[in-house]
Amino acid sequence: MPTIIPLAEIEPALVEALLDVAFGKDRHQRTAYKVREGMDMLEGLSIAAVDAMEHELLGSLQCWPVALTDENGKKHPMIMVGPVAVYPDLQKQGIGQAMLTALLAELQDDSLPLVMIGDPAYYDRFFGFSPERTGGWTLPGPWEPERLLVRATADAELPMKGKLGPWSPGT
Ligand SMILES: CC(C)(COP(=O)(O)OP(=O)(O)OC[C@H]1O[C@@H](n2cnc3c(N)ncnc32)[C@H](O)[C@@H]1OP(=O)(O)O)[C@@H](O)C(=O)NCCC(=O)NCCS
Repeated sequence: MPTIIPLAEIEPALVEALLDVAFGKDRHQRTAYKVREGMDMLEGLSIAAVDAMEHELLGSLQCWPVALTDENGKKHPMIMVGPVAVYPDLQKQGIGQAMLTALLAELQDDSLPLVMIGDPAYYDRFFGFSPERTGGWTLPGPWEPERLLVRATADAELPMKGKLGPWSPGT
């Protein structure tokens, strides 16, 4: 199993190189990047998986402060998860699951809603991220509705309609 450490301990250029491999160099055009444009990564919730012996980077998971603005203009803060990336030759060895498990352990049960754009076949199957409650949401770019996923506690206030975008205190 990999060792899980804070992503902030990894040189940023190494993380960028991993993300280029996993998502391509044109990844900055993706809608997910626009949702959290201008935001700083949530360092306390961003995770690296490294080799236990050499501490080489195997995978990364980043989190960002975002908000869903409802029809009345009220902002509902959420945590955007992603990108989640594992080097292609190391995939399907449990590294992705180890990073998500570490994130959920850190958050425990009282988290803000977690939102992401990803494959439900992976994120719903293992971690309960679902598109069921995001059908009325919009994003600042193109997206596939079945890939807009949220994971929230049963009592979370999730507006039926709203637009996802960056969030910072006071906005
Ligand atoms: C998606 C990703 C983070 C998963 O991490 P991982 O370490 O490879 O996966 P894990 O070892 O934790 O889990 C393996 C299981 O998940 C499944 N799986 C992995 N990626 C999947 C995907 N995109 N969709 C559906 N299932 C997937 C595997 O088939 C395997 O299932 P099995 O146990 O039944 O064989 C990783 O594959 C990755 O970085 N991919 C490149 C980026 C990408 O394509 N992301 C798409 C989602 S945003």
